[in-house]
Amino acid sequence: MMTYIQGLPKVELHLHIEGSLEPDLMFELAKRNQVSIPFNSPEEVQAAYQFEDLQSFLDIYYQGANVLINEQDFFDLTWAYLLRCQQDNVIHTEIFFDPQTHTARGIAFDTVINGIDKALQKGREELGISSQIIMCFLRHLDQDSAFETLRQALPYKDKIIGVGLDSSESGHPPEKFQQVFEEAIKHGFLTVAHAGEEGPAENIHNAMKLLGVARVDHGVRCVEDEQLVEQLIQDRTPLTVCPLSNIKLKVFQDMADHNIADLLRRGLCVTINSDDPAYFGGYMTDNFVAVAEALPMTNEELKAFTLNAIEASFISEEEKQRLVAKVDQFCASV
Ligand code: ADE
Ligand code: ZN
Repeated sequence: MMTYIQGLPKVELHLHIEGSLEPDLMFELAKRNQVSIPFNSPEEVQAAYQFEDLQSFLDIYYQGANVLINEQDFFDLTWAYLLRCQQDNVIHTEIFFDPQTHTARGIAFDTVINGIDKALQKGREELGISSQIIMCFLRHLDQDSAFETLRQALPYKDKIIGVGLDSSESGHPPEKFQQVFEEAIKHGFLTVAHAGEEGPAENIHNAMKLLGVARVDHGVRCVEDEQLVEQLIQDRTPLTVCPLSNIKLKVFQDMADHNIADLLRRGLCVTINSDDPAYFGGYMTDNFVAVAEALPMTNEELKAFTLNAIEASFISEEEKQRLVAKVDQFCASV
């Protein structure tokens, strides 16, 4: 099973690049940029990663991002993630970044986007990994700040495929950002949003209705509304599920309790993703293995997660066909 999962070509659709900051790199960047961090060693950082819920994670995650200052830092962060993609046979990835986490500290928008984009370009050329960038608005901030971020992104429209919505779901529902999403759509951006991670099924419904999302990030609480589940099946609205994240943030107590296998078997377009792998204990292969160990699955079902991710990705039909052929070729060879 491990060999099959390792070799299976994978597509990642829910990855916060700031959440791929490993403790070793955090230490290196803290030293390089003379930023003080409240830890004495990478081991101490790792030991601090015990979370009670989404907010307790976010507090530590935003603090970690403080070591990212220069374009080279964003390049190094993204390149390290791409090398992990290569190890895990991730052939295409669509990554999130949170501009406001950086612009609020006085880091220029172009420093962030240029560092990420240059690494992704090198990833295409040297590793053969294709990629897209999605910019997320922080939902704990107000809509004016999101509008300002959208304005800053306009000169980089060719590098950013879509906008998303992340951070604290509780108390910050999709309707808070309806106007800025409408504006983003007018400018040609695709839209996604975190919904139904900690918040209710109603947030999923409203993300679809008011924000026009092409995919729902997480979405696992859809099961609380049967009519919504039926709609997700009918429309094949993809859910980007993050199994290890859900356990670390106590959305489910145990992987054996996770609903991802049920959702797949009911015909939803569910995908497996790593969210913030440096914080949640695993990249793509680890997430697949954790699911397959706790919820016995056939190779066909594991393959279906990749085929769903290809279907749900923001690439051309031709490119989708090319990726499907790669997956078929691998599956025929085992
Ligand atoms: N930002 C980074 N990871 C997140 C998650 N799982 N939910 C909401 N916001 C996030
Ligand atoms: Zn996320």
